[in-house]
Amino acid sequence: MSDALLDRLDPRHYREVARLILPEPVLGWIDSGEAAVSDNAGAFRRFRLLPRVLRDVSAVRTATTVLGTEVRTPIGIAPIGIQKALHPDGEAAMARGAAAAGAIFIAPVNSTIPIGEIATAAPDATLWLQLYNWVDRDALAEVIRQAEAAGVKAIVPLVNTPLPVSHTPASVGFRLPAGVTLAHGASTHDLTAKNDWSYLSWMAGITSLPIVPKGILHGDDARRALDSGARGILVSNHGNRQVARSVAAIDALPGVVAAVAGKAEVYLDGGVRNGTDALIALALGARAVFSARSVCWGLACGGAEGVTRVLGALTTELAEETGMCGIADVSALSPEVIATVAG
Ligand SMILES: Cc1cc2nc3c(=O)[nH]c(=O)nc-3n(C[C@H](O)[C@H](O)[C@H](O)COP(=O)(O)O)c2cc1C
Repeated sequence: MSDALLDRLDPRHYREVARLILPEPVLGWIDSGEAAVSDNAGAFRRFRLLPRVLRDVSAVRTATTVLGTEVRTPIGIAPIGIQKALHPDGEAAMARGAAAAGAIFIAPVNSTIPIGEIATAAPDATLWLQLYNWVDRDALAEVIRQAEAAGVKAIVPLVNTPLPVSHTPASVGFRLPAGVTLAHGASTHDLTAKNDWSYLSWMAGITSLPIVPKGILHGDDARRALDSGARGILVSNHGNRQVARSVAAIDALPGVVAAVAGKAEVYLDGGVRNGTDALIALALGARAVFSARSVCWGLACGGAEGVTRVLGALTTELAEETGMCGIADVSALSPEVIATVAG
């Protein structure tokens, strides 16, 4: 879609437009888990805010640091596999869009462009790389070496895929678009069901990059992860694509934040659909949040520009809502701004 058309379209409507653009199997793949009983987005809507008044909010700051890296927004992009299914420029466009918004992009190992080329396409992007628990540790080590060479800032091992999952692209009839391949050979790798905490200590032993496991929901698991070498925790139920009745990510966040007790940064993905959702997660102790589906729609509608506009709109909403609550810096958000959780 041209910039002129994007100018006329509010990013909040990208979803409807993307549904006219994308083929049915791709939509089915994105939607997997959305209708789950314990939906992430619905859980956010139960929270009520407690604004404070007569405070100076003439400039609301959204810039912060995440694992020591300065970012212009605490709203980043969660890993989404096979991004050329959403836009011909795939992960390169996603990375450029993230860089222009000053946001972190967690690239998927299930990408259609190798991590080195993603970095080259967007030299200013802050990239993290998500990994799967492949049986083949040598192959994992090789991808980590490529990530280090590409200037990636953190490694994000997914820890919630102990068994083959039902929400694979193939289960909804999705096939790789013609001419598209998986850059890191992900389709050729089996996931191991024989997992234990030595996985994280092994990883921490072969790289100096910070390890941020993705898919933790229990406080005890967060503690074990830190004991095993993790430097941050990404609270996520994978968009309800793994355990359909798992606790919503925002409901799991406080327990993880309490268990971590300030020893590491905690992040969240799952259900962030607007700036208020991000505000609630930050207030409950997340240092940053990540969005997948909202940016899928942006990438599909407008490539890198669409991604930048989605992140920009989410960040503007976060700033406005934070200011309306009487707070001038998103880093100063605390549970005091949360009034109640409606039944
Ligand atoms: C189309 C699609 C593809 C995804 N691919 C991956 C992936 O390759 N690796 C991963 O760790 N998570 C993947 N996820 C999960 C997201 O990273 C995220 O945890 C989940 O979608 C929740 O965020 P959301 O509610 O903002 O969509 C995918 C999600 C979607 C919708």
